Amino acid sequence: MAESMAGLHRSHRCTELSSANIGETVTVMGWVQKRRNLGSLIFVDLRDRSGLLQLMFDDKDEDLIEKAKLLRNEFVIAATGIVNKRGGAVNENMKTGEIEIDVKSLTILSESETPPFPIEDDANTKDELRLKHRYLDLRKPHLQKNLRLRSEITTFIRKFMSDEGFLEIETPTLCKSTPEGARDYLVPSRVHPGSFYALPQSPQLFKQLLMCSGFDRYIQIAKCYRDEDLRADRQPEFTQVDMELSFVNEDDVIDVNERLMKALFKEILDVDLQIPFPRMSWQEAMDRYGSDKPDTRFEMELVDVSDVVKDCGFGVFTSALENGGTVRAITVPGMADLGRKKIDKLVEEAKGNGAKGLAYIQLKEEGIKSSFAKFMTDEEMDALIKATNANTGDLILFAADSNKIVWNVLGALRLKLGEELGLIDHNKFNFLWVVEFPQFEWSDEQERFIAMHHPFTMPMEEDIKYLESDLGKVRAIAYDIVLNGTELGGGSVRIHQADIQEKMFKALGFDEETAHEQFGFLLDAFKYGVPPHAGLAYGLDRLVMHMAGENNIRDVIAFPKIKDASDLMTDCPNLVDQTQLDELGIEIKKDEE
Ligand code: AMO
Ligand code: AMP
Repeated sequence: MAESMAGLHRSHRCTELSSANIGETVTVMGWVQKRRNLGSLIFVDLRDRSGLLQLMFDDKDEDLIEKAKLLRNEFVIAATGIVNKRGGAVNENMKTGEIEIDVKSLTILSESETPPFPIEDDANTKDELRLKHRYLDLRKPHLQKNLRLRSEITTFIRKFMSDEGFLEIETPTLCKSTPEGARDYLVPSRVHPGSFYALPQSPQLFKQLLMCSGFDRYIQIAKCYRDEDLRADRQPEFTQVDMELSFVNEDDVIDVNERLMKALFKEILDVDLQIPFPRMSWQEAMDRYGSDKPDTRFEMELVDVSDVVKDCGFGVFTSALENGGTVRAITVPGMADLGRKKIDKLVEEAKGNGAKGLAYIQLKEEGIKSSFAKFMTDEEMDALIKATNANTGDLILFAADSNKIVWNVLGALRLKLGEELGLIDHNKFNFLWVVEFPQFEWSDEQERFIAMHHPFTMPMEEDIKYLESDLGKVRAIAYDIVLNGTELGGGSVRIHQADIQEKMFKALGFDEETAHEQFGFLLDAFKYGVPPHAGLAYGLDRLVMHMAGENNIRDVIAFPKIKDASDLMTDCPNLVDQTQLDELGIEIKKDEE
């Protein structure tokens, strides 16, 4: 039975009603959350996107109560009735807990089968089932809240940026594949068999072209696609708040974005952010936190003890130094008595992050216990403990290896232990800018330097001289905005001078022909007058995740994908018709038997 809603008009959403409406006749529409049958009375909790409202049916009207008896969870109904003070006790947990609707007329707009899981926030439902029926999952209050928050955030950003003179301009999503960053998603062309479009990893080149076209300040809420391994803060398709500005320097970009964040957090969360945000060089971030996106909500900083141990008798330390590496430590407060099993687990974790081992000192009340004391003199041990500023009761963990591995290992342990020991204040929003990134990073795989950001990032003025001599020394005018240990966004000042761009391509191993083949349209555009420009892009999903207090961007995306990049609800990616493949001139290689 599904009735028509002809003649009915919703007067209020559920929680728009309160004691102020007592006596009014209203019409509400929504889903049955729950029905309680007390014989002569039936109560129904009605749910819409605003929340819950209690409906009351009594047996004065026999037809009505008989109809109410048909109601089951998730039926969609319309109810017209009078707002009353609750007959029973006020429900403090419900926004509309003081009132109920004395229903005079009920329309069943559609029925529902029993849903595969309860539509409740803390229902213990398997992820696979939730995502297969995401449309039901999305009915839950916390996901409703998250998506509403997301909408408020984008609306606010659009308005703020528009007031700052930014124009919203859309850029293509069928693009030329360019060899930066992650793997592209490719789209085959029917008209040009054998040729492919790529879905954009970001609107980077287009926004620079828009600057060449004179638009001066651009913003876009842009869908981006990257074929990379998924994590809690990575989806194959995600959304950027993407911007580019002309005639500006790094400080101008940082300034407008600090004001944006301050205004946004005030408006949406009523949180007062202090601006300007701290700025930290990449080098300092790595040295202190072992991460280019440091979580500064707690200390437990890394200490470089290379100088202290350089002549000690412990071969693990000295050989790491001889191979050009370092020895660094973190002090874990109050953990001196950690049992052997737990320590072994930390060692395993460290190995999982690339370490060959993890050395430790336990500063126990009864004396020092260490995995390497036998290799050290008492003086060397004392000097080492002193250098870490550790106290009795603390545990000190040491990693010895190349900088990259040491940072990675201790940075990860720091985060894990900080969380486990409850050192992180989850009410804090710690923003900072990480600046002065290396321009290049060494790729072991490709055995050459590759761009850490992208090939159009301007080197720092004083480092341009190293472009032809010492690439490891070149720092970029690039900046990441970091929040509570997440890279929220990143950007840079772009190269607008042909001679520097040429040097950059050369440094990256592009010859002129390859550069032209891949980025020719940009290089051509740059021949006709290009303004100095700079920009930034936020991961919108990550921003909303933090503002919603979630740990996974999946919880702020309506229809997310799972770890293997598939969508359980629509069952994609999927095989397509042979005719579709034929039209595209594509033949699928069969797995060899
Ligand atoms: P970048 O590659 O740093 O910069 O991307 C900008 C921001 O996008 C977010 N992000 C992601 N979010 C979810 N899932 C992903 N797979 C994913 N990948 C990136 C991050 C990141 O900080 N064009 C440049 C920006 C510029 O220079 O203006 C760019 O795309 O939050
Ligand atoms: P070993 O002499 O190999 O038993 O190592 C002594 C201690 O040093 C053990 O606790 C190892 O886990 C630790 N260790 C080994 N390699 C490293 C390394 N690269 N960095 C830090 N500690 C290490």
